[in-house]
Amino acid sequence: MYRESSLLDKLMEIKKKDHLPMHIPGHKRSFNVGQRLSQVLQCRIGELDFTEIPGLDDLHSPSGIIDKAQKFAAQCFGAKASFFLVNGCTVGIQSAIMALCGEGDEAAVSRNLHRSIFEGLVLSGAKPLYYPISYDKEMGIPLGPRLEKVQKLFKDNSPKVFLMVHPTYYGTAADMGIIEEAHRSGAAVIVDEAHGSHFKFDPRLPPSSLEAGGDIVVHGTHKTLGSLTQTGLLHLGSGRVKPEDVKRFLSLLQTTSPSYILMASINAMCLDLADGDLVKKAVDAALFLREEIGKTPGFYCYEPKELYDPTKIILGHQDVGGRFLGHILREEYGIYPELEGESFVLLMVSVGDSLKTVKKTAEALRDLSTRLRQEIKESINSYKIKKGSVYYFDELPQMILTPREAYFYRRRRKIPLSQSCGEVCGEMIVPYPPGIPILLPGERISESIVEYLSVSINEGCHIQGLDMVKVPEIEILEC
Ligand SMILES: Cc1ncc(COP(=O)(O)O)c(C=O)c1O
Repeated sequence: MYRESSLLDKLMEIKKKDHLPMHIPGHKRSFNVGQRLSQVLQCRIGELDFTEIPGLDDLHSPSGIIDKAQKFAAQCFGAKASFFLVNGCTVGIQSAIMALCGEGDEAAVSRNLHRSIFEGLVLSGAKPLYYPISYDKEMGIPLGPRLEKVQKLFKDNSPKVFLMVHPTYYGTAADMGIIEEAHRSGAAVIVDEAHGSHFKFDPRLPPSSLEAGGDIVVHGTHKTLGSLTQTGLLHLGSGRVKPEDVKRFLSLLQTTSPSYILMASINAMCLDLADGDLVKKAVDAALFLREEIGKTPGFYCYEPKELYDPTKIILGHQDVGGRFLGHILREEYGIYPELEGESFVLLMVSVGDSLKTVKKTAEALRDLSTRLRQEIKESINSYKIKKGSVYYFDELPQMILTPREAYFYRRRRKIPLSQSCGEVCGEMIVPYPPGIPILLPGERISESIVEYLSVSINEGCHIQGLDMVKVPEIEILEC
């Protein structure tokens, strides 16, 4: 019985389908991503699965081939030093926070950051100090942090570090002036540039925060640049951080058996970036798709007033919501979005794309546009989303315990979510994607949070941290 439903069988089954991935990873399982990357993607993986035999160096104490590859990565991205990550951007962000913060230090954060940042607070014992961000209220999309919104924080506080995302998961970019302002106040800046690894390589993209003076910049290179899933780079951009501190924490958190296939994919990506026009082709393809969408009746692409990454296409339709759109694109056209939200879907164009893949998407949208106007118009009423009805959550819950205190708190139990109002949350509650926590451990559960989570569950969102066996249950602290 089990043999027929194994993970491997499922992957093999999906692989056979003619499925067009408009999602992460950036290589899109295409065999034509850069010259060296293609070599890694086409290899029989078992043949490259090595361990630290002589000649292959050691990630934890590199002095040979890995050392050279990391130095080459630094040169390629314009960093003072770069380190390979084999546990995603997550391990880079956690190590960066641990390198700069200890127990009780204040870390400036906003509420739209990825869970790995709050995990960094758990590991380091740093306390969150929140700065506000804005949302595009019509779309329900968080915007990048703005200088005017953080000035008050620096006027009244002296955080040890300032943490920001650039760009957000949705492609909205940060105001780079923040970095200088943070430095003036004595804070080091860690930039979660998980989705912006490609920025340096095309002038049509927002600026890279390494160029703007970020002290530690973490790249999720598997997201947009084609290296294999789980890979990333941590870069040092200034002398404010001691490389030994970062190395120590990376060594603490990364496996002692890093995959040579993963590391080779990072190295191949750097070589391809240095030699070719990988990113230029991706941006050309994204701009082409945006233009085609603009000509397709009923469809629109979100274009924020501030800087944004054009390779992240937030696609909406005047008559139908994102979940309906996502469902029909997947089931009837074989196009898989990165995210299916309430009022839009997110399509990611990356180095694995070409004019051919985006033309296929544009063609599907033209066909769907005609069908939406004619044959299926009658049946779509239940999927309609009124503009302005977008449901997003920007409430800041009351913190009772710090994330670290709450994580180590032993007296805890599960109760139905519907009865949890007023209790202290014991888990990180995270809609995934995009991986931004709604509740952190140690925070008070409010009525509006229970309502938001219940609506999200009914809409089919996957929420990490809730137990969904019978009724949704949440872990609370008995304090
Ligand atoms: C903004 C952001 N930061 C960090 C991460 C963590 O990256 P990884 O999955 O490579 O660990 C993600 C993952 O989705 C993300 O969206």
